Amino acid sequence: MPDALTPATAVKAFTVPDAAVEVRDLRKTYKASGKAPAKEALKGISLAIPRGSLYGLLGPNGAGKSTFINILAGLVNKTSGTARIWGIDIDQAPRSARAAIGVVPQELNLDPFFTPRELLDLQAGLYGVPKAERQTERLLEAVGLKDKANAYARTLSGGMRRRLMVAKAMVHAPPVLVLDEPTAGVDVELRQMLWAHVRDLNKAGTTVVLTTHYLEEAQELCDTIAIVNHGQVVACDATENLLRTLDSKELVVTLDRDLDAVPAALSPFKATLPAPRKLVVSYQPSRAKVGEILAAIAAAGLGVQDISTVESDLEDLFLQLTRAPRPAGAAPDDEYR
Ligand SMILES: Nc1ncnc2c1ncn2[C@@H]1O[C@H](COP(=O)(O)OP(=O)(O)OP(=O)(O)O)[C@@H](O)[C@H]1O
Ligand SMILES: [Mg+2]
Repeated sequence: MPDALTPATAVKAFTVPDAAVEVRDLRKTYKASGKAPAKEALKGISLAIPRGSLYGLLGPNGAGKSTFINILAGLVNKTSGTARIWGIDIDQAPRSARAAIGVVPQELNLDPFFTPRELLDLQAGLYGVPKAERQTERLLEAVGLKDKANAYARTLSGGMRRRLMVAKAMVHAPPVLVLDEPTAGVDVELRQMLWAHVRDLNKAGTTVVLTTHYLEEAQELCDTIAIVNHGQVVACDATENLLRTLDSKELVVTLDRDLDAVPAALSPFKATLPAPRKLVVSYQPSRAKVGEILAAIAAAGLGVQDISTVESDLEDLFLQLTRAPRPAGAAPDDEYR
């Protein structure tokens, strides 16, 4: 496909791919500069982000999430590997590939002397969106900035700026929207509003990729999640499958009397006694049944006043997968902030 078309037209003309984003063996090594040694930030990432999905990219600080996103956005040059956005190879047709994606970078970069309305109009102009097709007002409303439409960007609060960045990434109605930590610094109410808008966009067909440190949010919002650690994908599956692999639960039992130690009858299970009357038993639902645990408690001659269970969530999985020992040679503070 020629890359001379205006980007907006080029994307519309392109056939619809199965994968909104497809990367193969993507690698990035940042060169050494000054005292900083070279850094291998991506160590061969292969991912296919299905068209229409709401895809979560999770990982601890320094995992390589922004590097990945910035390569897609054309802001960072990859070292090797291939990347296609909406079926368009970023090397073969960089402009068209860039037109297929809207990126909200982690770092705020707004011109302070423009107003939100001007910024959105300018951005639309850059992408060749005809005046009649611009959605400036609707976007301002969606991100809750209508009443700030004519204020200088420099007078906006941090959260407002971030919301403006989100609107800016959507002016050319890209089929793929990528949000790098979009809700960092955004308050709870507006975060909900932003997510509602992201959900609507996704329902209307936009593929959304986001990174977030709010695991709960990812668990609730994303249909598919990839967990990245040290520049590699360590888990990638439908959210519900990932959660199903978490075969671990806790049974919390309130007893009818005080104990000094875990009763011997419970030795087959992993039990602790955080308080004299509180017994916590960890078990794998696929192997042990709650009935067996309760029977063991009864066999110890104890009465039960109350019970509850605690299920592990994505946070546990995330910690399990990313708490691996530090690789040899890694600096102590590197990625372990
Ligand atoms: N421009 C750069 N030059 C050199 N090293 C870099 C550069 N950008 C990132 N890195 C390094 O690459 C690694 C991955 O960084 P990246 O910003 O992609 O992580 P991240 O997953 O987005 O982290 P965070 O959750 O903190 O945003 C880190 O070790 C980082 O220090
Ligand atoms: Mg980042």
